[in-house]
Amino acid sequence: MRKILDLISEEMKNAFAAAGYDGELGRVTLSNRPDLCEYQCNGAMAGAKKYHKAPLAIAEEVAAQLKESSVFAEASVAPPGFLNLKVKASFVRDYLRQMRTADKFGLEAPERVKKIIVDYGGANVAKPLHVGHLRPAIIGESVKRICSYAGHDVIGDIHMGDWGLQMGLVITELKKRQPELVYFDENYTGEYPAEAPFTIAELEEIYPTASAKSKDDADYKAEAMEATHRLQNGDRGFRALWNHIMRVSVEDLKKNYDSLDVHFELWKGESDVQDLIPGMVEQLKKGGYAYESDGALVVDVKEETDTKEVPPCMILKSDGASLYNTTDLATIMDRMEKYHPDKMIYVTDKRQDLYFEQIFRCARKTGLVGEETELLHIGNGTMNDKDRGKPFKTREGGVMRLEHLIGEINEEMLRKIRENAAEKGYEIDAGEAAATAKIVGLAAVKYGDLSNQAAKDYVFDIDRFTSFEGDTGPYILYTIVRIKSILHKYAEQGGSPADAVIQNAGDDSEKSLMLELSRFNAVMEAAYEEAAPHRICAFIYDIANAFNHFYHETKILTEEDRERQAGWIALLKLTVDVLETCIDLLGFSAPERM
Ligand code: ARG
Repeated sequence: MRKILDLISEEMKNAFAAAGYDGELGRVTLSNRPDLCEYQCNGAMAGAKKYHKAPLAIAEEVAAQLKESSVFAEASVAPPGFLNLKVKASFVRDYLRQMRTADKFGLEAPERVKKIIVDYGGANVAKPLHVGHLRPAIIGESVKRICSYAGHDVIGDIHMGDWGLQMGLVITELKKRQPELVYFDENYTGEYPAEAPFTIAELEEIYPTASAKSKDDADYKAEAMEATHRLQNGDRGFRALWNHIMRVSVEDLKKNYDSLDVHFELWKGESDVQDLIPGMVEQLKKGGYAYESDGALVVDVKEETDTKEVPPCMILKSDGASLYNTTDLATIMDRMEKYHPDKMIYVTDKRQDLYFEQIFRCARKTGLVGEETELLHIGNGTMNDKDRGKPFKTREGGVMRLEHLIGEINEEMLRKIRENAAEKGYEIDAGEAAATAKIVGLAAVKYGDLSNQAAKDYVFDIDRFTSFEGDTGPYILYTIVRIKSILHKYAEQGGSPADAVIQNAGDDSEKSLMLELSRFNAVMEAAYEEAAPHRICAFIYDIANAFNHFYHETKILTEEDRERQAGWIALLKLTVDVLETCIDLLGFSAPERM
């Protein structure tokens, strides 16, 4: 379906042309003065110079062309030459009727389906998930769903950190604790046990212990580095141990991401491309891109137009070891070969902005990625503590584990849900309350995050995020639940929401809701083009406000005019369908009641 603003603009362009002016002047936008009109056109002012004529006169001539318009109910002229517009109720009604029957509410399929890889999550194996991993997971999941809804072929890859020093640290600590394990016996040639010599709980304790020790003890650190080196060079016992760490850790990560409703198509990691590195390095050297500098192998990536210094991209350290960079470049090479993506989107903390600039430049310059493939980094800001305004920490100042943060939110949500039930005077059993708290808690966290532009820092405010009022996830869910309850009651009275037909708006509150809904396809397009979930948040907040306003003005279930009532029900059905589609794109869902 065409966007409603395009249809409206087209009508206006025809009017400009019919009055003898350049049709392009007829571009219509949403009104800056919703108290006066719904849409506006400033074309008469733009045309004044070109036609040496007073803008007011031009506007009046154009308005005269619109007397019989099937789109505009009102086109009034205001000094110095604004065209203030209101559309006909029948025009919006017809648009919404079409939306209801169209696939995806009229969002058009793309001209060409793109292959898109979204690299997000970025969890590190053997380390517990902490709050720093929350934003990339939430934003990435939403961006992925938006791309897919836009009609593209999308793959999400977690790109785990599974090959670094943390592995050597865990191995070293295990060796201290259980030196008798066969993995440490260099003469052992038999099969290694199938069972891991640790549980996830132990693993979670081992890494922080080892990491703390390595900071105070240089020998310990050296040992961990040596262990990392041996692992990376194929030591059999270490490799077997690494497999155990991977299995135990990934199982736990899956559980954690599942509870966030975050799902990856690919569970690849840094380790998966290690075999590709020697070939890639050879290629970079042969192409004359990589050269030695202080013993290390680097590729220059600075450009003349740079205003800040962009250091060379390091490919190999002086001891020949590969780095985070090397793995990312090899992963790009691998993805190009396997998937030929049209686009790769990375979601990480914005402190990696410069890093990705280097990687992207290096990948392009060396031909790993051709011009036809787009590379995009979405650098997210930090989630800050309410009291200190600094990145989130535990009360003791440590890294906040994700599970604990989610636990805190759910607890607060449960309290509010109980409170609300008591206020409304209905019974809610403990099981239902807890399940609902989980669903609403996730919405609180995700909406609180996604309603900000990704690059901005924001304050994590449990109280505000979990509130049932204001620009929050629970407010959106509350609206959905309210609409569902009306539709449910209507059905109980024998009506059928699916068969109800949208009618002309009877008052301004109804029309406002209809106009908000009509923006759906435009909003989705923008959200996709800009990879910007916050666009969807702003849209559903507007819809929720418009709906609640309408709801307060209208006695729906007691209306005696059955056709009018059915018209409202049809509008409610469209509203709830649009809202539920949108929250799904944001990565959360609504409970049956709350
Ligand atoms: N593991 C990294 C971290 O914790 C994030 C990985 C992001 N993705 C990537 N392709 N580099 O910071």
